Amino acid sequence: MFSISKLNKSNSSDIEGIKNVEETSTFDTLKEKDIDYEIYENPVSNFLILKNSLNKVVGYIDYWITFDSSTIFKIVILDSYRNKGLGTYLLSETIKILKEYEDKDDHTKLLFLTLEVRKSNLSAISLYHKVGLKEITIKPSYYEDGEDAIYMVKDLNE
Ligand SMILES: CC(C)(COP(=O)(O)OP(=O)(O)OC[C@H]1O[C@@H](n2cnc3c(N)ncnc32)[C@H](O)[C@@H]1OP(=O)(O)O)[C@@H](O)C(=O)NCCC(=O)NCCS
Repeated sequence: MFSISKLNKSNSSDIEGIKNVEETSTFDTLKEKDIDYEIYENPVSNFLILKNSLNKVVGYIDYWITFDSSTIFKIVILDSYRNKGLGTYLLSETIKILKEYEDKDDHTKLLFLTLEVRKSNLSAISLYHKVGLKEITIKPSYYEDGEDAIYMVKDLNE
């Protein structure tokens, strides 16, 4: 049994769990200061965490909300839990939340979900296709090492 919940920033085991997942991901690992910025300072970031039945954090997603769109900044599933549908579960639940989102001040709803993904990241691209993201364009040399990104978008009103 797996469960998804919002990050409780005052729960140190949630924070340590996210950092453990991040540190053990295979590439593009965030430095601790960058993950701390995302958790504590970035005003547009939102975290959901995926836990197993022993309450261990086995995955997380960090998505940004800016005006009428959301961007997936990071989604990571712990190595040994990959290819079991958990990434799809976490992202599908995120999309449900985004479809229901309404800004508490001006009642803006979200129109689009966007992201960039490395051209070589086939498992992530496969996951994104499964939840309805479409490849829109290539961003040449988007990453520091020169790799191209695929820019993908999902219409949240579909
Ligand atoms: C991307 C990631 C989150 C996917 O999580 P996951 O739990 O493995 O996702 P799922 O099991 O729901 O789906 C993965 C799909 O990729 C497919 N896949 C895996 N390796 C693949 C490959 N080399 N080529 C093509 N498809 C591949 C799987 O078969 C599966 O599709 P299926 O369900 O149709 O069989 C996970 O691999 C991960 O944490 N990667 C490292 C971090 C990362 O790259 N994040 C994305 C950018 S921020």
